[in-house]
Amino acid sequence: MIGDPVPRIDAPKKVTGTATYTAEVWDAGQPLYGWIVGAAIGHGRIARLDTARAEAAPGVQLVWTHRNAPKQHEPDAGQISYARARPVLTSAEIRHHGEAVALVVATTLEEARAAAALVDVAYEAADGHFDLAAREAHAVEPPMVQSGLFATRSKLGDVDAAMAAAPVTIDRRYTTPYELAQPMEPPACFAAWKGDQVTVHTSTQIIAAARARIAQTLGIPMEKVKVVARYVGGGFGSKLGVQAETILAVLAARALAKPVKIALSRQQMFQLVSQRPASRQRVRLAAGRDGLLTAFAHEATIQQAYGSDFVEQTAACGRPLYAAANRFTTHRVVSLHLPPGGDVRAPGEATGLLAIESAMDELAHALGLDPVELRVRNEPPRDPESNVPFSQRRLVECLQEGARRFGWQRRRATPATLRDAHGWIGYGMASAIRTHFQLATSVRVRLGPSGAAVVQSDMTDIGTGTYTILAQTVGEALGISHHDVRVELGDSDFPTSAGSGGSFGAANSCNAAFRACRALRARLAAAAVADPLSPMHGLDPAGATLADGRLAIGHASEPVADLVTRLFPSGVDAIGDVADGTAEPSYKAYALNTYGAHFAEVRVDAVTGEVRLQRMLGVFDGGRMLNRATARSQLLGGMLWGAGGALLEDAPVDPRYGSFAARDLAQYLVPAHADVPEIDAIILEGVDDKANDLGAKGVGELGICGAGAAIANAVFNAVGVRVRDFPITIEKLLPGLPR
Ligand code: MOS
Repeated sequence: MIGDPVPRIDAPKKVTGTATYTAEVWDAGQPLYGWIVGAAIGHGRIARLDTARAEAAPGVQLVWTHRNAPKQHEPDAGQISYARARPVLTSAEIRHHGEAVALVVATTLEEARAAAALVDVAYEAADGHFDLAAREAHAVEPPMVQSGLFATRSKLGDVDAAMAAAPVTIDRRYTTPYELAQPMEPPACFAAWKGDQVTVHTSTQIIAAARARIAQTLGIPMEKVKVVARYVGGGFGSKLGVQAETILAVLAARALAKPVKIALSRQQMFQLVSQRPASRQRVRLAAGRDGLLTAFAHEATIQQAYGSDFVEQTAACGRPLYAAANRFTTHRVVSLHLPPGGDVRAPGEATGLLAIESAMDELAHALGLDPVELRVRNEPPRDPESNVPFSQRRLVECLQEGARRFGWQRRRATPATLRDAHGWIGYGMASAIRTHFQLATSVRVRLGPSGAAVVQSDMTDIGTGTYTILAQTVGEALGISHHDVRVELGDSDFPTSAGSGGSFGAANSCNAAFRACRALRARLAAAAVADPLSPMHGLDPAGATLADGRLAIGHASEPVADLVTRLFPSGVDAIGDVADGTAEPSYKAYALNTYGAHFAEVRVDAVTGEVRLQRMLGVFDGGRMLNRATARSQLLGGMLWGAGGALLEDAPVDPRYGSFAARDLAQYLVPAHADVPEIDAIILEGVDDKANDLGAKGVGELGICGAGAAIANAVFNAVGVRVRDFPITIEKLLPGLPR
């Protein structure tokens, strides 16, 4: 049952509109509605503020600014960033465009929005730092990357000496723009207090982080805060923490003693949700004529917001990728007056591999070597930086299987030599790699007298399939149909998980559930052998199995429903846990990653320079699949993010004002259906027994890793134009198009 392409068990609810998303929650009755007023400057201070007209507007219940908003607690840097306090409306200082400067709560949404427009704010603008390139000289190396998950720099041997000695070298700079996670469901919150207890429905990826952030911001015990997110309409990193709308809804609901609902508009998401920081990257490669790398260096300079310590792990993804004796990687940050950066799907790899895998293509071209062969030749026997063995690593198999299925041999080695009636055809490829994480997670599994099971965890399903894979895992482990497993998620009353993020949600929660089922089996077996009424009485419980609704030891067996009814009349449960990966010996002894290979075919219009994707193929190695359909869906979605990064996505900053010029999905372009080519994701089935009990690793982000570079390399192969400033747009291609 584990791995079967079971259709999503929540699909009927979603299709019939009965899966309740945050903004649709009515549990506590008619709410009041809040609207956030955002700053109209990028840096400076509020000089004058007049809320009288807003306060007098119809239906208005409350108008808050930094002058009268409740005092909140300051963040404690020791916390994981998504669980830290996030006070809002704290001062007259403006740190970025769109930062909340006022909240209006009214009886209806329309009244709140109309009154918000009447809040009169005058600003005193100060000079701001908005331009990453212009400020690059001020870049500094941060102490750590991503709250300590990665070291800022790594160094082995002497890259400069290897570059000087090598017959073939590549030294290139690449840039990537600001990119925004834009899930279908905007962030929203519905908060309702009962006495000193608050129930917060909020669209979040991690219930426990949201709960900690809310409690810390308000300075109240966590036990007073219940957080619920049963259905989440996508996150992609933007909902790892909660934002201003949630803090303000909780505060306003307390002040007004009535439920308050606040949802961000799509346009507000471009200011109040963290973005993927823009990057400037340098990649250096040195190789012998045989293509064997002697040096690999990757230096990333990334935007950071003043007052934020988020650093994207852009230069960490190449560390385990290719063999080379001399190595150097580092991160530098440039502080700017822009919204704080944050994790966006495949943080690090999405942009880091765009640069590395473009540079590898440039090296292959310089060597006159096939790009697949170049990568195969540089496959490392052990992790080239930590020097520990890899767990399961089938990158070469992905490359070779992908090349075979894609028809890679039809690629022309010389660019701009393959044409059809409309334009130039090009083939490109790239490797994929993504770190595997494990974070502490608990899941409870309960068996009732009917023999049906209930699974409970505060784990979220953000559209990824968590409900379904948990039902499958528990069904298999307990020997019952997945139809007899009810999965309850997204509620802080349930055991705590690490939530959905970093591709860790599926493996964390299914392994914890699997362990809960093993513990349940042990309890049932112990009770059965001790019970004179059981046919298993007196047998050795160690060999007990659960299958087809029966507990069996050897040839003796009994229906689980009978056992539970007789021995546990009110049901029986067990909690399964997985520990943080840093506590697992195998996580130090092995380098744990997921892998893949991307292939892309493009056609570049010979006249207009328009790039059309014709085909994309990815072949992936991510350990055991928990559900081949949901896993493939994740991989395809990731590949399309790669297409967006290569060709479309860009949130340019207006350097005069420090605002994102694109403020909606008509201007911030993501691939739409008509942009999607023939696309397939092939999964190499396997089991990574070093990762966990199930041998499963996450694939939520793997599909994006390297996908954009395969497209960029295909564009080069088509027309011989190498664009290093992403996205690859028509105006960057036109000057170099073949005649
Ligand atoms: Mo992911 S960017 O950790 O949601």
